[in-house]
Amino acid sequence: MDGGTVTEDEEASGRYIVVKALEDGVVIMGLTRGKDTRSHHSERLDAGEVLIAQFTGLTAAIKVRGKAEIMTDVGKVASGL
Ligand code: TRP
Repeated sequence: MDGGTVTEDEEASGRYIVVKALEDGVVIMGLTRGKDTRSHHSERLDAGEVLIAQFTGLTAAIKVRGKAEIMTDVGKVASGL
């Protein structure tokens, strides 16, 4: 396979979410698509840092732990206490 090819497994849906950490140590986890759900990647953000993440063939769900502002296609929500 050539280097530029995106496999079906990794195909991006085009949908993004934006997460802005409102405290240090916010964790964002990518959860796998398919029969079993496991965390395949996690990112730690400190206060003020922003992550823009995309849903893909591999990532069906995204979990956020800690205080953050989350923007998605379906609206804006706050996580954490
Ligand atoms: N493996 C699950 C699936 O493909 C991942 C998933 C999708 C999920 N939506 C979810 C996990 C909502 C928790 C909550 O269906």
